[in-house]
Amino acid sequence: MAYYRCALMEVETKFKVLNEEFSLRLDRNPIENIKSRLKRPISIRNKLKKYGYPLTMQNIEEQLHDVAGIRVVCSFPSDVYTIAEALLNQDDVTLIRMKDYIKNPKPSGYRSLHLIIEIPIFLAKEKRMMKVEIQLRTIAMDCWASLEHQIHYKKDFNFTDEMASELALCADLSAELDERMEKLRKIVRPVPETDDAIKII
Ligand code: GTP
Ligand code: MG
Repeated sequence: MAYYRCALMEVETKFKVLNEEFSLRLDRNPIENIKSRLKRPISIRNKLKKYGYPLTMQNIEEQLHDVAGIRVVCSFPSDVYTIAEALLNQDDVTLIRMKDYIKNPKPSGYRSLHLIIEIPIFLAKEKRMMKVEIQLRTIAMDCWASLEHQIHYKKDFNFTDEMASELALCADLSAELDERMEKLRKIVRPVPETDDAIKII
C-alpha cells in the first residue's frame, strides 16, 4: 500500500503543477479539486475473489488497476481534455487504458474520462512501475455522480425503469449545463490563439 501511496503523491503533484501552469496562462483554475484514495484491503480481497484470483501481491499488481485512484474535478469540459492530454504527454507517464464516458456516457448517464496510467516511483534502491486510475470530470459531472452514487450505484434497492430514466434525464440536464457554461466561457474568456501550448483546448 505504501508503493501505491507514493504513486498517488507523484500523480497528485503532476496535476498540481499543471494547474499552477494553466492558472497563470488562462488566469483561472482549470482544476477545481483533486481527491485521491487507496482501495481498502477488504475491497482488494473481494475484487480479486470476484475475478477468481488468489490474494497475492502479483495478482494485486497485475489484475487490479484501481488500487490507487485519483479524481480530478475540472471547471469546464475542455479543461478535462486539456489536462488529460498534458498529463499523457509527459514522458514518464504510460497510458494503459482510456475510457471516455464523456463522449460515450454509460447507460446510467454517468460521464467522466477514465485513464489507467503507469508511472515510476523512485525508491532508495529501485524504480517501481505503479498503476493509477484517474477519473477526470467537470463540477457538473461530479455533482451528478456523487448524488447518483448516494441514490443508486451498486445498491441492492430494486430500482424501477422510471427512476433510472429520471436519473439519466438529470445527467442530460447536467451535460447541457456544462455545454452552456462552456459556450459562455468561450465568449468571455477566449483562448489566446497565439499560444501554441494551449491551442489543444
Ligand atoms: P469497477 O470494477 O467498478 O472498478 O469498474 P470497471 O473496472 O469496469 O471500471 P469503470 O470504468 O466502469 O468504473 C470505475 C469507477 O467509475 C467506479 O468505481 C465508480 O467510481 C465510477 N463509476 C462508473 N460507473 C458509474 C456510475 O454509473 N455512477 C457513478 N456514480 N459512478 C460510476
Ligand atoms: Mg473501481
